[in-house]
Amino acid sequence: MRVFVAGATGAIGKQLVPRLVKAGHEVHGMTRSESKQAMLHELGAVAVVADALDPGEVAESVGKARPDVIVHQLTAIGSIDLRHLDRDFAMTNRLRTEGTDLLLSAGQAAGVRRFVAQSNCTWSYARTGGPVKSEEDPLDPTPAREMRETAAAIRYLEKAVLGALWTEGIVLRYGAFYGPGTSLAPGEEQFEAIRKRRFPLVGDGGGVWSFIHIADAAEATVAAVEHGHRGVYNIVDDDPAPVAEWLPALAQKLGARKPMRVPRFVGRMFAGEAGVVMMTDTRGASNTRAKRELAWRPAHPSWRDGFAA
Ligand SMILES: NC(=O)c1ccc[n+]([C@@H]2O[C@H](COP(=O)([O-])OP(=O)(O)OC[C@H]3O[C@@H](n4cnc5c(N)ncnc54)[C@H](OP(=O)(O)O)[C@@H]3O)[C@@H](O)[C@H]2O)c1
Repeated sequence: MRVFVAGATGAIGKQLVPRLVKAGHEVHGMTRSESKQAMLHELGAVAVVADALDPGEVAESVGKARPDVIVHQLTAIGSIDLRHLDRDFAMTNRLRTEGTDLLLSAGQAAGVRRFVAQSNCTWSYARTGGPVKSEEDPLDPTPAREMRETAAAIRYLEKAVLGALWTEGIVLRYGAFYGPGTSLAPGEEQFEAIRKRRFPLVGDGGGVWSFIHIADAAEATVAAVEHGHRGVYNIVDDDPAPVAEWLPALAQKLGARKPMRVPRFVGRMFAGEAGVVMMTDTRGASNTRAKRELAWRPAHPSWRDGFAA
């Protein structure tokens, strides 16, 4: 198939493109930078230089590629201050709203068979009921104040993609990425914060996280591109775990001292309400549907071993 990847040079894109190429697909990878064309060629893709927020450039580049499938992996996350999450996600939120609309409209004009888009389940599910959620469970109706716009952008993207009845609209709710090219990797921001004891355990650390190795996220995406059906898939490992469990375990793996414990009100001061929610109240996700319908299995079934891989 001809596959158009928007976000081809990012953390997930760099893992996804070579896998699609290896599976025999013709990949057209989008970047804003002339200078990243060589990297895309090395990954085996046709490089397409375009700005995802420019309607003319998106329409032209998708029109030229004539893809069977579009994959939307556009984000602009960078460094985040959780106290100002919506501010720091503002560009990502535009990519998830305006960017989604532009790709959908270009895809419709080109007659794409599938449209696969990145969503997120690291903090998206309602914070009621059991610790691990399936795709049918409701999204959080009352996100923390600092993350309302970001949550709204996720909902917008999902609704637009699932509502595109002229194609097979697929939403991949990825868990927390770790591994090469992510901030949870040796030498990178989060690992280093944990190593330096700057990633404290807030309250009871009862927030449940679902992780996914970036290579496994890419493999699941290839499966969705090739044989996914309209709907939502959680792309997570087999081992959702509370912060109180994974954070000390990771600190130990990194040879760091035990994470500091701070009460909620202190957590709120340095990480805002959004940070406290993520540490104490968020829910994990189940990969049962992805395994069944995508015939996919994570090669790293648990972060316990994956972090060390
Ligand atoms: N589920 C998760 O845990 C999750 C999800 C997403 C990201 N993250 C983390 O966030 C960090 C990096 O994310 P990131 O978003 O900063 O960067 P990134 O991984 O470099 O990905 C951003 C991608 O979007 C493209 N892009 C952004 N704006 C664009 C525009 N206007 N037009 C065309 N392409 C555009 C970029 O292309 P060019 O720059 O080449 O133009 C790049 O390919 C990583 O640590 C990653 O693990 C985690």
